[in-house]
Amino acid sequence: MKIAILFENSKTEELGIKSTAEQLGIDLSFIPFRKVAICLNETGYSFRTRGKNFSKVIDDCEVVLNRAQSKNRRLYAATILEAFGKYVINPLSIEAVCFSKFKTVLRFWKEGIKTPKTVYIPCNVKEFKTDGSKINNEKDICDLIQQDLMSGGIVVKPDSGSHGNKVLLAKKQEELIPILRESETSIINPIGILAQTFVQKWFYDLRIIVAKESGRPPYCYQKALARAGYKDFRTNTYLGNLAFGVTLPTCVMENAIKCCNTIGGNSKAWIIALDAMPDIGNDKIADDQYVKKELDKLRPSFNAIKKIKSEKSKEKNFVDWNKRLENAFEHYKNQRAYKKIQTLVEESLERNRYNVLFHEANSCPEFWEQTRLIAGVNLAVPLLKCAQSVVETKDEQLYEYRKYTSARMS
Ligand SMILES: Nc1ncnc2c1ncn2[C@@H]1O[C@H](COP(=O)(O)OP(=O)(O)OP(=O)(O)O)[C@@H](O)[C@H]1O
Ligand SMILES: [Mg+2]
Repeated sequence: MKIAILFENSKTEELGIKSTAEQLGIDLSFIPFRKVAICLNETGYSFRTRGKNFSKVIDDCEVVLNRAQSKNRRLYAATILEAFGKYVINPLSIEAVCFSKFKTVLRFWKEGIKTPKTVYIPCNVKEFKTDGSKINNEKDICDLIQQDLMSGGIVVKPDSGSHGNKVLLAKKQEELIPILRESETSIINPIGILAQTFVQKWFYDLRIIVAKESGRPPYCYQKALARAGYKDFRTNTYLGNLAFGVTLPTCVMENAIKCCNTIGGNSKAWIIALDAMPDIGNDKIADDQYVKKELDKLRPSFNAIKKIKSEKSKEKNFVDWNKRLENAFEHYKNQRAYKKIQTLVEESLERNRYNVLFHEANSCPEFWEQTRLIAGVNLAVPLLKCAQSVVETKDEQLYEYRKYTSARMS
């Protein structure tokens, strides 16, 4: 089998890729990435669990879909597999940029794409000297941030975080020091402090998907996810906010492609999900009270989805669980309030289409639940097509090479 999928645990996303591959008639092999020993030796390498040798599976495949869950583990997986000569989706060079929010924003900024005003300070709040004594830099860091980011709120976030974890908002100046005090150097916050101006995104932001197959130009899906609500300034749905499928204005799609091209570089095939925020300011086209009321009407049906999503046995009863999940999403989307908010977001986005700020790129986005059932985009399809396109171009190159060498020999 020429395409393999690497993962730590087979979750619904992986089962979704598997069932999509079956529907598309694509054979997939599986590579575990948890309790395995990767051994480099004089004759090559081995890749083994306690009971099984996966070296041949790796030898035989050409493309690997990297589904390791954390950013760090994905970096390791991509590094290893590329060293073994595999094309990884996404390639290591893309993972390396997506790993850091600052590196990502830097790329966008260099390309002339609008981003939130961002400050990076390569110094940790707490530092330890060699004699064990502690230095506290909170005041200096606070001053450095406030030198550039003033009124309207400041967002402090871990450079390599995900799921909105430790993304904090200082609404007033005096809230910044306590927030900085909470910041710690960790695997998701390796060096320094990343701060951003608080973008007045009204009540929603966007998750936009762009993919590139080998030998073809990149394409942006016209349907995106709008994460919306007033429960938390972070729009993440696990914090109580909701999700809507919205149609993107053309210029937003064009900018999304630009963003991904700069991250993708020369890589043949990739799939990237961008996070973007509309800078709406005071251009609210509806009353907040009205929007809140409509969002509240959707809460029961969205909670029903969440309940199904959190079922413990979902992987075991995947087919049945998936059907019930699809029905629950359908029910949610059929509410009148859903249509009202969807239309509102689309109108607001159209008016602010030149003020959409891009701030993050995700190399392994969630897709089976929200993106598929709200935006209507099953990312397993482009993911598998990207992999297939790499195999096909390799086959074509091999065919051309053989034709060329046999012509020379005769
Ligand atoms: N500068 C900002 N201004 C306003 N809101 C922001 C800003 N930065 C982040 N947010 C909000 O917080 C959420 C989480 O931030 P961000 O995307 O940077 O973190 P994350 O940990 O990568 O989250 P995720 O994994 O969901 O993408 C965003 O989706 C957005 O709603
Ligand atoms: Mg994000």
